[in-house]
Amino acid sequence: MAGRIAVIGSNNVDLVATVPRMPAPGETLAGTGFSTGFGGKGANQAVAAARLGSAVTMVTRTGDDGFGRDMRRNLLAAGIDLTHVTKAPGLPNGVASILVDPAGENTIVIVAGANAALSPADVDRAAPDLARCDLILLQLEIPLDTVYHTVALAARLGLGVILNPAPAAPGLDLSRLRGLAWICPNETELSQLTGLAVETPAQIEAAARRLYAQDLGNVVVTLGARGAALVTAAGTTAIPALTVAPVDTTGAGDAFVGAFAHHLAAGNAPERALRLASAYAALSVTRPGAQSSYATPDEFAAFLAAQPSTVQS
Ligand code: RIB
Ligand code: NA
Repeated sequence: MAGRIAVIGSNNVDLVATVPRMPAPGETLAGTGFSTGFGGKGANQAVAAARLGSAVTMVTRTGDDGFGRDMRRNLLAAGIDLTHVTKAPGLPNGVASILVDPAGENTIVIVAGANAALSPADVDRAAPDLARCDLILLQLEIPLDTVYHTVALAARLGLGVILNPAPAAPGLDLSRLRGLAWICPNETELSQLTGLAVETPAQIEAAARRLYAQDLGNVVVTLGARGAALVTAAGTTAIPALTVAPVDTTGAGDAFVGAFAHHLAAGNAPERALRLASAYAALSVTRPGAQSSYATPDEFAAFLAAQPSTVQS
């Protein structure tokens, strides 16, 4: 049985140029292609969970412009409940300017626009609907006060929260994040949260255990092509990644988190949810764009069936 998930977060229109290599400062470089797509860490995670079959409601602010209208239609088409998707009067939609190189690596500049207007009051208005969800998903592309407020509200409502602490926010106050169910950083964010080096697998494990000891919930560290690491009261588990030919890694972390939330909300044990999420993210890396790269359940099942490993749907 699929569960109910609320995503309190950002949405962006992604403006993506493919480049032969990353430009140097001051350089003008000819790109090899351009496309627009739907992105934003909140919307990406919401769309991934919805595409896999979760019932998803999103609390987000769209822009008072054409991109905002496009985003609304996109979220509707993805099957997301739009009750708490509201326009930010006078503000442009959030956008991300993205460069993707031939190895599928990216650089991203985000301009918050309407995302900066997502307020604690917006979350409070959604509270009756949040109370009916199995879990709440949060990232850091919205004001930190709104993040802290949501964590406190979820605690009052007795709801589990998954926090993806991305992008890395230097001013993040960890003392206002106690009581999360899960915190899911990538290795850069893990290093920033703990102040520890994450060069080697042993260092990553040590940092993940340190983060777990900070009482922010169970820890999942996403490690890109190196898979993921899980730290719970039961100990530490390394999950290897599937080997794929990367086309575009944009939004792979969001595919992971959205799929992880979907499988947890559907009642799977964490380790199984993690293996499925890791495979789902691997598939997303083989396709261009963020939300455009998130597979349907049928496509995901076919991808798994073609793998030599033992991940099962
Ligand atoms: O995590 C990937 C996302 O980061 C992109 O879709 C872009 O919008 C930025 O928010
Ligand atoms: Na992708």
